[in-house]
Amino acid sequence: MKGVLLAGGTGTRLRPITHTGPKQLVPVANKPVIQYAIEDLKQAEIQEIAVVLGNKGQEDVQQFLGDGSWLGVDITYIVQGEPLGIAHAVGCAKEFVEDDPFVVYLGDNLLRDGVVDLVESFQAGDFTAGIALQSVDDPSRFGVAELDEDGQVRRLVEKPDEFVSDLALVGIYVFSPSIFEIIEGLTPSDRGELEITEAIDVLVDSGEKVDSHVVKGWWKDTGKPEDILEANRLVLESHTGSQNGVIEEDAEVTGSVELHKTAEVRDGAVVRGPVSINRGTVIRAGAYVGPYTSIGPNTVVEGVHVENSVIVGDSTITTDGRIVDSLIGRGAAVTSARDLLPEGRRLVVGENSKLKL
Ligand code: G1P
Repeated sequence: MKGVLLAGGTGTRLRPITHTGPKQLVPVANKPVIQYAIEDLKQAEIQEIAVVLGNKGQEDVQQFLGDGSWLGVDITYIVQGEPLGIAHAVGCAKEFVEDDPFVVYLGDNLLRDGVVDLVESFQAGDFTAGIALQSVDDPSRFGVAELDEDGQVRRLVEKPDEFVSDLALVGIYVFSPSIFEIIEGLTPSDRGELEITEAIDVLVDSGEKVDSHVVKGWWKDTGKPEDILEANRLVLESHTGSQNGVIEEDAEVTGSVELHKTAEVRDGAVVRGPVSINRGTVIRAGAYVGPYTSIGPNTVVEGVHVENSVIVGDSTITTDGRIVDSLIGRGAAVTSARDLLPEGRRLVVGENSKLKL
């Protein structure tokens, strides 16, 4: 079994964070989303992995993952270029896959229990493809599967306008190489993409056996800022914390807090987990870092209350007041305007930013 990890796409819904880097490198609990995918594939004993790169952030992804050896896998890079759809990206991996069955993992998906069950279920039968499903409240955001009374897949529809089923397709699939022939016969959908959902629907229509597997643990497609915050919350909830950094005597750190050995909590600051604080970051006087917050490397937090937020890193957050439910990109400076005249907020805001003041 091989792995094909998709790291393309434009990340429109995560702008402005994705103006400067690919969505697959956005950190959740201080680990890029794509690293969780590699770890899941490795757990399913898949070591030969092709990473399919889009136009955006090719170097960043390669620099981060390297040849994969530090993660115990062997990575080959394939360039898809233009974002012509998931099925197109999968098609680019034809030579890499050769005659093996393979798992396709969309690099912005995150799931609690990994892919072992899906792979084992596929291997247990004579299937051409295997899909993972989960019931969702907003099926029109996803591809969905309609099952018959016996749980067999009847049809698949990508982002249905009208209700078909609430069972969304998780962005993880298992295929035999016969999928390539079907991909070659696809034409672009209304959104101008070759849809993997349609390719699987063609398989079902032609009578091929498609395994479906309902995922029990949580699953997140991290396409939007609120999805990143929720994924961060879900991952932090399962962490036990490891306080390796410096905690000054008058500072207070309680609950599950992952504090990097070079991070510091000083001057009476308060940190209440679950929280993750990365290398070189300092939490200083007047700061309160509350539950479900991840703060990346080399950041200073002072005077402010932060809760349920992701601060990517290399930032200065020294304003007063409260920051909640926020996603703050790398290198941001959020400081105080209190002693400045005329009174008022001072903003240098990048394209496609979203502020609620
Ligand atoms: C893609 C697939 C969709 C699937 C989803 C899972 O959607 O097209 O069928 O349910 O991933 O994350 P996209 O992220 O391209 O909107």
